[in-house]
Amino acid sequence: MTNLEILKTLYNRYTKNHLTKIFISVFFSALVAGSTALIAYLLDPAIEKIFIEKDEKLMVIIPFIILFAFAVKGSSLYLAKYMLIQVGGEVQKILQLQIMQSILKSGIEKINKKHSGKFLGHISLDAGLVKKLVTDTILLVTKDTLTLFALIGVMFYQNWKLALFAIIMIPLASIAAKSLGKRIGKVTTESQEVFGSLNSFFLEIIKNHKIIKIFQNEGYENKRLNKIITTFKEKVVKIETVLVRATPIMETLTGLMIGGLIYYSGNLIVKGELELNNFFSFLAAMMLAYQPVRSLATLNMGIFQGLSAAKRLLPIIDEDNDDKNSQKHLEVKEGNISFQNVTFKYLESPENVLNKISLEIKSGEMTALVGHSGAGKSTILNLIPRFYEPLNGNIFLDKQQINNFSIKSLRDHISLVSQDVSLFDDTIKNNIRYSKLNASDEDIIEAAKLSNCDDFIHKMPNGFDTVIGENGVRLSGGEKQRLSIARAILKKSKIILLDEATSSLDAETEDKIQKAINYLTKNKTTIVIAHRLSTILNSDKIYVIDSGKVVAQGSHEELMTTSSIYQNFYDKQIRS
Ligand SMILES: Nc1ncnc2c1ncn2[C@@H]1O[C@H](COP(=O)(O)OP(=O)(O)OP(=O)(O)O)[C@@H](O)[C@H]1O
Ligand SMILES: [Mg+2]
Repeated sequence: MTNLEILKTLYNRYTKNHLTKIFISVFFSALVAGSTALIAYLLDPAIEKIFIEKDEKLMVIIPFIILFAFAVKGSSLYLAKYMLIQVGGEVQKILQLQIMQSILKSGIEKINKKHSGKFLGHISLDAGLVKKLVTDTILLVTKDTLTLFALIGVMFYQNWKLALFAIIMIPLASIAAKSLGKRIGKVTTESQEVFGSLNSFFLEIIKNHKIIKIFQNEGYENKRLNKIITTFKEKVVKIETVLVRATPIMETLTGLMIGGLIYYSGNLIVKGELELNNFFSFLAAMMLAYQPVRSLATLNMGIFQGLSAAKRLLPIIDEDNDDKNSQKHLEVKEGNISFQNVTFKYLESPENVLNKISLEIKSGEMTALVGHSGAGKSTILNLIPRFYEPLNGNIFLDKQQINNFSIKSLRDHISLVSQDVSLFDDTIKNNIRYSKLNASDEDIIEAAKLSNCDDFIHKMPNGFDTVIGENGVRLSGGEKQRLSIARAILKKSKIILLDEATSSLDAETEDKIQKAINYLTKNKTTIVIAHRLSTILNSDKIYVIDSGKVVAQGSHEELMTTSSIYQNFYDKQIRS
């Protein structure tokens, strides 16, 4: 997208529906311009009537008018800014919401590609820069342009020759600023990159603090942090340096202008073409014009910063994550699942992770997947709720090809209890409720009971209302697993996907979890990635997966007699 297209998009999406507020702001900007010009103009009668002619009535009136003009200027400036602050807040809010929505809708693969720290950078920094672009530009363009024109009007009114002289200086200033603006845009993009890495780094440090402590790598992390923060500092310093780089140029130009002006006006006064009162009013107008000229000259820096942020945000917001089959509802009566020659590879994996996998999973039965680590078992589970799409082959649910239906209706029928439990920093109750937001408290209590959670929940200080910390840090591993089973029980879905935890627990907890799983999977179509003997013995059918292929299938007894691979696997992995 070109810069102009970006500006148009931003205007159409984020600014257009605030036109009333913007017009009010423009109106008050005009008042600011008018009152500023009035202040400059008033010096003319003030000097002429009060100091030269010593008019006693005006000696009182003019100071009052000056007071009034300043009051109007101040209040109008406040109102003009107030309106734009409202608009800016709204723009930033919508941007942040849209980024968040897009991330929520985005496919797993797309999210995995980027570190969460980068997303944080978009939400915090970039959204703010775009907001600034939208509001500051409006304010500066209207208020400063109008003020500048009004002041130039005063200057021409007082003496057109002097005014022409002053105006020649203005383009000089803007040329200097333009080159700085481009530079600023580039440095902002670079610093945003570093800011993203910094965020990512902080997140990892917090997340992995235990590992850092046990391996005593504080020094190592400190060094890495130092490096990244130093780079960040350099970028920030660079941006701010470029931003102030305009100052010496602008100040020198102003000096040149005033010096030249005094020389030139001296000449005019000697020739009798200029009166003292006109000169002072002119000088005031010119001094007052300094601020708008400077902001207008540096305006493009903010614009370039905002544009480079918009260039990062718009592609994320515009990403097409909509479900193309959102209207097609998948009906599930039985819950039979069938994989037919499914081949799959992750974006980043060098070769196929699954190779022509065919599975028949019967409704109401428990089907187990066994195999070595990295064989592709979790990958098979991931394909059922369409976290990923197969490269080739099809998956059917009750003879319906799942990718022809809406993802929502598919996932409505599926519960996933995964290897690593995901919990929110919220109450136990809300964590269980997460699978069915409209569940009643009674249902939640029942699910907790059926999953053998109630013994530990009752021991907690606030029972069901105890907050469990980030990802459930205040719970034990076994407790977390039972909570995640409670969640699945509450959902009452037809299909249960179970990625059994590899870490073994004590016999008593193991037993509690086993009972909870038995309840959860009763009469459900269950696919379990089995690591425990009891699960395998409970299964109706077992698929042995090796390097992304099905190498054997059958019941435990059948496999024990027919498949040497299974026997081998059983001896080494399960029985030990
Ligand atoms: N997101 C991913 N991107 C790229 N490759 C992946 C991804 N997830 C898994 N893999 C690769 O796919 C292969 C199968 O992984 P999978 O998680 O299905 O194994 P698994 O059978 O569940 O193993 P485990 O018993 O250890 O859980 C592995 O070689 C793994 O490295
Ligand atoms: Mg796995």
